[in-house]
Amino acid sequence: MTKKNNKISNGARYDMITIGGATEDITFYTHEGILMDNKKDILRQKLLAFEYGAKMKIDKSYSTFGGGAANAAVNFAGLGFRVASLIAIGDDERGKRVLANLKKHRVDTKLAQKIKGVETGFSFILINPEKIVFSNRAANSELGIRNKELESLKNAKWVFVASLSGKWEEVLNKVFSVRGLKVAWNPGHVQLNTGAKRLKKFIAKTAIFFVNKDEAIELVVSDPKYKKKNYGFLNNPKELLKIIKSWGPETVVLTRGKDGADAYDGKRFYHHNIIREKKRIDTTGVGDAFNSSFMAGLELYKGDIGKAMHLGIRNTASVIAEQGAQNGLLTKKDL
Ligand SMILES: Nc1ncnc2c1ncn2[C@@H]1O[C@H](COP(=O)(O)OP(=O)(O)OP(=O)(O)O)[C@@H](O)[C@H]1O
Ligand SMILES: [Mg+2]
Repeated sequence: MTKKNNKISNGARYDMITIGGATEDITFYTHEGILMDNKKDILRQKLLAFEYGAKMKIDKSYSTFGGGAANAAVNFAGLGFRVASLIAIGDDERGKRVLANLKKHRVDTKLAQKIKGVETGFSFILINPEKIVFSNRAANSELGIRNKELESLKNAKWVFVASLSGKWEEVLNKVFSVRGLKVAWNPGHVQLNTGAKRLKKFIAKTAIFFVNKDEAIELVVSDPKYKKKNYGFLNNPKELLKIIKSWGPETVVLTRGKDGADAYDGKRFYHHNIIREKKRIDTTGVGDAFNSSFMAGLELYKGDIGKAMHLGIRNTASVIAEQGAQNGLLTKKDL
């Protein structure tokens, strides 16, 4: 029996710990915005405009829970794993609701950090019909890893690291210092924007590295070696997977929205198309659903990447058919 298996049978507290954001999401639909061309600005080619100073009608709205660490934890718990979330919330009512939601889904909240005098993170998600997200990380930026959390990490089998803010490099240094811990990592914008050079030492120690295709291209061209590569090269999922794999992670997963997902473990390339969802209600949280399902699948199916991808694809199709990032997630019973 391997050392990792021993850890579990010796009564490790958690199969998985998720680290990152926990928020409340207010989603609202409106028709009042006007889409405008802004071609002169390559980074902002389309703008959504509202009449200045006016009052706008909301067609419908929903309050749900989100944040990468919370979304992944709810998924893991539903699939039958012992999971805790290492998150930071404020000392407000929203924070209480965020915790109550996790508890309701049987996610352990002992590692949640309550930050005094700060608001719990939240997002306003405007749909018109394209999605625009206003995000306030708030307490999420205060997340830190102290000795208590480090001890829990030492006793866990997997850690799932979602988008981080604040002192994220310190957090990653501690996570990656734990020997024998398998790290699944989906870096957020703050991490990706610092470029490959600063991230490589972490990527090298990652068991599963998740990025969507746009993020992968940005990451690859941030390396001077690939800066001059042409569109045809950068647009090829296999080239992207090979480059990121060469930085040392065990498995790289590239998600491509409606084009499905690809993975590479150094031996074989894998691809899976999406399943046409019965209804397409809301795509919030698809990345979290896919990535955490893939990781859970590797654990459930003993490292079988094809099966893990299939679980990811099934679960995202199910999440898209319901409102919010956590509604519609498949559970152990559904498998
Ligand atoms: N419209 C869709 N219909 C069905 N499946 C989808 C759809 N969009 C995404 N998926 C599935 O979810 C996976 C992750 O989606 P995507 O590549 O858009 O991630 P992402 O950009 O990280 O998402 P997020 O905005 O949540 O961060 C895809 O690989 C695909 O399998
Ligand atoms: Mg994403």
